[in-house]
Amino acid sequence: MTVDSVSFARSFSQVTVVGAGNVGSTLAQRLLEHNLANVVLIDIVAGRPQGVALDLAQAAGSEGHNRTIVGTNDYQDTASSDIVVITAGLPRRPGMTRDDLTQTNGKIVIETVRQALAVSPQANIIVVTNPLDVMTYLAWKASGLPPQQVMGMAGVLDSARFQRFIAWELGVPPQDVSAMVLGGHGDLMVPLPRYTTVSGIPVGELMSTDRLAELIDRTRNGGAEIVQLLKQGGAYYAPASSACVMVEAILRHQRRILPLAAHLTGQYGLEDLYLGVPCRLGQGGVEEILELSLTAEEQEALARSAASVREQLQGALALLDG
Ligand code: APR
Repeated sequence: MTVDSVSFARSFSQVTVVGAGNVGSTLAQRLLEHNLANVVLIDIVAGRPQGVALDLAQAAGSEGHNRTIVGTNDYQDTASSDIVVITAGLPRRPGMTRDDLTQTNGKIVIETVRQALAVSPQANIIVVTNPLDVMTYLAWKASGLPPQQVMGMAGVLDSARFQRFIAWELGVPPQDVSAMVLGGHGDLMVPLPRYTTVSGIPVGELMSTDRLAELIDRTRNGGAEIVQLLKQGGAYYAPASSACVMVEAILRHQRRILPLAAHLTGQYGLEDLYLGVPCRLGQGGVEEILELSLTAEEQEALARSAASVREQLQGALALLDG
């Protein structure tokens, strides 16, 4: 590159994607192809991020984008990023308990956040690694950033799944469905039909309660259904799309209202916990947490989900002292 083209390229935003596995590589592809940002892809495995970056760079001409991608194992190359997306971690293996996964991925998330923030102290952080709500809390604590700048990607994905199933059921395009899912990213998540509409029509008007309950169940098991089919690894196309939606909202200061894991300080009766709630997302990160009025049943479901996240979190907090 000439000096001119280097300074032209750096005039774009920069996003670091930590983890060059399925989700990270697909996210890098989406960011480039939407012309959203220059991407730095970093992984612990030597050669992997470099190989993925070279492959993606060679698609630039065909895809017609003008963003750059660098693959690296060195955090110095990620310096001055506007956003850091954490996808690093291990998938849950047979025989591994949920707590084992929390310990393993917790260490990875804390370590990667500290290293990334050392060279990009102003960055917003989006966590994708599971178990999502716990990992986001650890990332926030490890970062030392205000909570507005650290958030987790889950509600956008869970809502996208609910949206897809409703759209199939009604034979409408998914864009016509506006879906809302609250709570932790797990089987206790809380899809909210009362706040889910099809071109403004509450979804409950358009299908039976029983059918809706089936779609809610399928949404709750959305990730597991794909794991079962793939047999190895988990979903990555839709998770990458959802993370990309959040990156775009921040970089373009869209101030969109999206469900995401945010730090609660009393909203929904919950204190000092990261959990999926609707937020306004813009350049400063989480600009506002919206508090929906919930029925007693919805509030109880949210409390159950929160209790399960809190229990997992208790076992992981000691990792922050390491
Ligand atoms: N630093 C950087 N990268 C790391 C580290 C680390 N300390 N530890 C592991 N990685 C990398 C792995 O080398 C691998 O390339 O993280 C990547 C994870 O990729 P995959 O195993 O393909 O997992 P993926 O499907 O991308 O999912 C990543 O997102 O949706 C969640 O549950 C999913 O927690 C998982 C994460």
